[in-house]
Amino acid sequence: MHTTPIGKFIAGIPKAELHLHIEGSFEPELMFEIAKRNNIKIKYKNIEEVKKAYRFNNLQEFLDIYYAGANVLIEEQDFYDLTYAYLTKVNEQNLIHTEIFFDPQTHTDRGVEFSTVIKGIRRALKDGEKQFGISSKLIMSFLRHLDEESAIKTLEQAMPFKKWITAVGLDSSEKGNPPSKFQRVFEMSKQEGFLTVAHAGEEGPAEYIWEALNLLDVSRIDHGNRCLEDEALVQELVKRQMALTLCPLSNLELKVIQELHHHPLNTMIDKGLLVTINSDDPAYFGGYMNENYFGIAKALDLSKKQIYQLAKNSFHASFLDEESKKEMIAKVDEYYRVHG
Ligand code: ADE
Ligand code: ZN
Repeated sequence: MHTTPIGKFIAGIPKAELHLHIEGSFEPELMFEIAKRNNIKIKYKNIEEVKKAYRFNNLQEFLDIYYAGANVLIEEQDFYDLTYAYLTKVNEQNLIHTEIFFDPQTHTDRGVEFSTVIKGIRRALKDGEKQFGISSKLIMSFLRHLDEESAIKTLEQAMPFKKWITAVGLDSSEKGNPPSKFQRVFEMSKQEGFLTVAHAGEEGPAEYIWEALNLLDVSRIDHGNRCLEDEALVQELVKRQMALTLCPLSNLELKVIQELHHHPLNTMIDKGLLVTINSDDPAYFGGYMNENYFGIAKALDLSKKQIYQLAKNSFHASFLDEESKKEMIAKVDEYYRVHG
């Protein structure tokens, strides 16, 4: 794909990522390396066996394996290596800005200190900025299969590191865990000055997207695919120009869609929704940003102009300040002027 005209265009265009779980960028090679130095046993014999296990029928099957993988992360250096490996990879893909989720409870529930997690990630982000010129924001995500009390405790643990965190989010098992369960902790987070986002409408119903808008006061919806089942909701999202952070390869691998050409991206664009392309958990779903763009461009026969618009949307929907947004969008415009 990257040798075709549209593939080359995708590979080179400056882009931002707005939906990436850092634990989901944990490549098996690094997982084995870190497991070895931490003396932790992995239940797979080798990398081929791990990759064979990455076949999922739904979100929960994936989450079970994703949390098991994260178990080998213990030391600050592990979180550093994980994050730096992601930045090294996406730097080759002309990513110039990224907004990264981390799931503190996945680690604090195993006895790893909150400070260990965030210090490792933060140091890698700062080094990555120096080394690659990639800017970043951090989003602390609450696990929705746990109770609100645990989320409140996590918010308290985050307080000493408040200036490093831009927003709070909501992820993990969606069905049966509606946004309303976390209304209070989101309210508390907003009072501390955090922006809010939430996964909604990936597997859960359109009603959960309404709740994310009305009860959690989100600035973006992560996924949001199932908004299309409710026309009034679509109109509301369009009216608010509420960004959806779509993840095509994730949708395919978790059977939200059966084939990539069934992806509703074009319908969403036609309805005037503000959509962006993201990788979600690239180590598990077969690709980083460019592979997501390649896949969806091929499946839906997207034009250079549409790719250009998607890349612009990624900056427009970001949490960058207006000045930085303008500068980065100018780079996208210039790229389109030369290569479009
Ligand atoms: N955590 C990591 N990836 C996720 C996804 N796609 N949905 C919900 N929680 C997640
Ligand atoms: Zn996600």
